[in-house]
Amino acid sequence: MAKGFYISKNMGLAGLLMGAVAGVVIIALAAVYDKEKTKNQNKPVDGVTTVSPTTSSTLSTPKNPWEYYRLPDSLSPVSYNITLWPRLVVNASTGLYIFTGQSDVVFRCEKETDLILIHCNKLNLTLLSGHRVRLTGLDGATAPNVISSWLQVKTEYLVIQLKGKLAAGKSYRLSTDFQGELADDLKGFYRSEYTEDGVKKVVATSQMQATFARKAFPCFDEPAMKAVFHVTLIHQRGTVALSNGRDVETVNTTIDGAEVTKTRFEPTKRMSTYLLAFIVSDFAHITGSIENNNVLVRIWARRKAIAEGHGYYALNVTGPMLQFYEGYYNASYPLSKSDQIALPDFSAGAMENWGLITYRETALLYDPASSSVGNKETVLTVVAHELAHMWFGNLVTLRWWNDLWLNEGFASYVEYLGADYAEPTWNIKELIILYEVHKVFAVDALASSHPLSRKEEEVNRPDEISEMFNTISYSKGAAVLRMLSDFLTEPVFARGLSSYLNEFAFNNTVYSDLWDHLQKAVLTTPGMSLPHTVHDIMNRWILQMGFPVVTIDTATGHITQKHFLLDPDSVVDRPSPYNYTWMVPIKWMKGGVEREQHWLLQETDRHVPMTTAGSEWVLANLNVSGYYRVNYDTDNWERLINQLTADHTVIPLINRAQIVDDAFNLARAKVINTTLALRTTRYLSQERDYIPWESAIRNLNYYILMFDRGQVYGMLQAYLKMQVSPLFDYFRTVTADWTRVPTGHNDQYNQINAISFACRMGVERCRVLTSVWFREWMLNPDHNPIHPNLKTTVYCNAIAAGGVEEWDFAWTMFKNATVATEAAKLRSALACTKVPWLLNRYLDYSLDPAKIRKQDCTSTISYIAHNVVGMPLAWDFIRARWSYIYTEYGGGSFSFSNLINGVTRRFSTEFELKQLKQFKEDNAGVGFGSGTLALEQAMEKTAANIKWVAENQEQVMNWFSNECT
Ligand SMILES: *[C@@H]1O[C@H](CO)[C@@H](O)[C@H](O)[C@H]1NC(C)=O
Ligand SMILES: *[C@@H]1O[C@H](CO)[C@@H](O)[C@H](O)[C@H]1NC(C)=O
Ligand SMILES: *[C@@H]1O[C@H](CO)[C@@H](O)[C@H](O)[C@H]1NC(C)=O
Ligand SMILES: *[C@@H]1O[C@H](CO)[C@@H](O)[C@H](O)[C@H]1NC(C)=O
Ligand SMILES: [Zn+2]
Repeated sequence: MAKGFYISKNMGLAGLLMGAVAGVVIIALAAVYDKEKTKNQNKPVDGVTTVSPTTSSTLSTPKNPWEYYRLPDSLSPVSYNITLWPRLVVNASTGLYIFTGQSDVVFRCEKETDLILIHCNKLNLTLLSGHRVRLTGLDGATAPNVISSWLQVKTEYLVIQLKGKLAAGKSYRLSTDFQGELADDLKGFYRSEYTEDGVKKVVATSQMQATFARKAFPCFDEPAMKAVFHVTLIHQRGTVALSNGRDVETVNTTIDGAEVTKTRFEPTKRMSTYLLAFIVSDFAHITGSIENNNVLVRIWARRKAIAEGHGYYALNVTGPMLQFYEGYYNASYPLSKSDQIALPDFSAGAMENWGLITYRETALLYDPASSSVGNKETVLTVVAHELAHMWFGNLVTLRWWNDLWLNEGFASYVEYLGADYAEPTWNIKELIILYEVHKVFAVDALASSHPLSRKEEEVNRPDEISEMFNTISYSKGAAVLRMLSDFLTEPVFARGLSSYLNEFAFNNTVYSDLWDHLQKAVLTTPGMSLPHTVHDIMNRWILQMGFPVVTIDTATGHITQKHFLLDPDSVVDRPSPYNYTWMVPIKWMKGGVEREQHWLLQETDRHVPMTTAGSEWVLANLNVSGYYRVNYDTDNWERLINQLTADHTVIPLINRAQIVDDAFNLARAKVINTTLALRTTRYLSQERDYIPWESAIRNLNYYILMFDRGQVYGMLQAYLKMQVSPLFDYFRTVTADWTRVPTGHNDQYNQINAISFACRMGVERCRVLTSVWFREWMLNPDHNPIHPNLKTTVYCNAIAAGGVEEWDFAWTMFKNATVATEAAKLRSALACTKVPWLLNRYLDYSLDPAKIRKQDCTSTISYIAHNVVGMPLAWDFIRARWSYIYTEYGGGSFSFSNLINGVTRRFSTEFELKQLKQFKEDNAGVGFGSGTLALEQAMEKTAANIKWVAENQEQVMNWFSNECT
């Protein structure tokens, strides 16, 4: 589905702490509009990300078919003729924005029945000769009379009871006329508003996934109910109408006295309702095409954005990526056109409607003048993800939402291949480790996690369906498919995939259909053998939650696996059909040479050749192609740490990041000592690559949060300052004293990390650098000398080092900002000041809608709370004003959980726990709305933090102080 909001990756640590808050804010949005992944968040060491408990339908066996959420199998749609007319001005009689429509659906009766159930939600149906519908028999069939029809609100059906029976094998046409609200609720057919050149403009657009097509017209709204759609849109003269197919006829006409244009589209291919799209706007576009192909490729956006050239990057990469996918899937692009459109205020992120993909602006538009490398990468990867769905998901669709993980996991894996093809110099495939694998390790290591795959009967209600759109589905899906493709090899994987897509084109599948085709590809590959079938191996990864930690004893050659749990005291009460053991492909090396892959098929293997002595180390899970963590005997850990210090480049890049991440997480789980984990960071003073640094910073972030108010912090800072200074100086040199942009894609990210981490750890040269740049800008506000990549961190550090003058300047720039990303960078940076009265004033501003937009209120408070000086101020602030905040911002707001998470992230003392309990008691009458669960979790996490600090503080302190002397 739609991609979630992305956190730009160019923020570095100071920003990263904030990014975390922003990330969480967005996750909550995501929970509602569904959506997917946020990059650079869910710090693995925090273990704070929880997966909402899955509620199963507790249907007490309803009596009537219309009380079930799933359609009966008596009818199947063949084609629809839909005409929709959205009004982009308020309707005088209802005071609402509305749309009207007509729909004819032709369906075939599969089993004799006297009942028609069709999805219909929030539509007012016009009576047609006394009934809500008109039923016509086709090809000589006679339609029975309608006895009664009603709307079953809970299950979202239009129910039609017939006098006689529909005959199996016959076809019928059901006609409806209806009126709906074109609300600004982002669901179904809805409206989006924006201002251009001082003029308010309204766009009619749509978001059907997962269950909102029924809000646009009555339809059989399940993914397996594929049909052909003939769409006509009626719209105001001078506007453009778009839908899934190419427009084939546009006429100007007058309807009920209104001068309108009528646009008819070519019939779609056989497709699911959730992939439909209808858009009316006055947008402009640019055009391209796929080479040697008739496919029309267009990028649409606000006129101004197109005029300023912001669509070109997406256009430039779309053609090559479509070509890449055609080759990869061995199937040509199934449609005659590919439109991609950027919508202002599109909360979903992006949505893979077939032939008309919708995006939020930041995911499609790229402005070379003001965007950072992270902004550009977001466009690249989101486009790659959505285009991957054109085949996987759209051409071949999973039968039901319980298999959503395969659709989304697949697109989340393949997007890296598509992106890599379009930007081959970026090494983007490596980043999957940070963005997907580490991210989901954090969630999947909790006892509250859940398996990738659910049973079809467990997912029924719309809220159960939207629950499927979570990190597990996207990122774990991507991680296990990457592992699968690695042990099959990419060519075999692609061959199985292509045979699957060709066999099931325009139809529906279940996940085992893909296993069948991959297994077939294995059997037809000469010399290829697996210890078990694809089914046997993969079902262990998708039918049980979590993942193993593989422990290798290099003295004995015994290896064992165990379900990895971040909290060793947590209780797993979810049974597993495989007793929490997996079939684990282990790629490994000894003495710097890759050895033959080993399959760990049971709990323990004895006398595996992974033995070593002397200084020769064993390293397993090369490139982290497997979805598991690795632990070693102490001697081998020592060897690896010694190798890192002696010459880290001998160890593959991704594994350097992994050694750090495994060690910190194993320490959190009390499998190894905290000091052993800390020692994996010693070599960082020589590390120049982004991925290991980013992995370390994310892990150290927990230590920073736990200790930045206490005596440990001085030592911690001194140590990390020592470690990061060489990186800072390295970038000063390679950028010729900060005058050039590093050439490598990941080097650009690492430059951001170098500056933000160095400034944070008190490197004086860094403070001077950022303050001088900012000053230059203050002296000449029309000419910002700060490179877009570095803005977030430079603004933040300059404001932190400065006073009221810097703050007021940034505030003015924020108020004047015309580009959304620029305003966002300033808004987060304003929270970086260390001056208490400025922070308090900013807190007051956050509740003044004239100063901070209402939607940004809670994230602004969270930004302030992430500043160590701001945290107690923000906590006092929300305690004092809770009932006001709750009434003003609580209604339907999803960001309360993030506010509570943000403010309590550092909590690690008994006193804070007491305050939390008091807060809960004092405001029991007011309530906590969407923050209720977060408050409970905050108390739990605070208790866990208290424990962790008590157990680790002393040794951490001693370790840092030894390192610094
Ligand atoms: C649907 O519209 C198409 C094109 O306008 C027309 O050819 C077809 O007969 C219509 N089908 C139904 C069932 O109304
Ligand atoms: C639908 O009907 C209800 C009840 O009469 C009315 O309140 C609502 O405004 C109508 N909606 C539209 C979009 O016409
Ligand atoms: C319809 O009217 C619009 C605006 O009046 C005009 O720009 C357009 O060319 C007309 N289209 C056709 C097909 O006549
Ligand atoms: C798009 O491609 C053209 C031609 O290669 C190039 O000149 C232009 O800079 C590219 N634009 C962007 C934004 O990448
Ligand atoms: Zn998707």
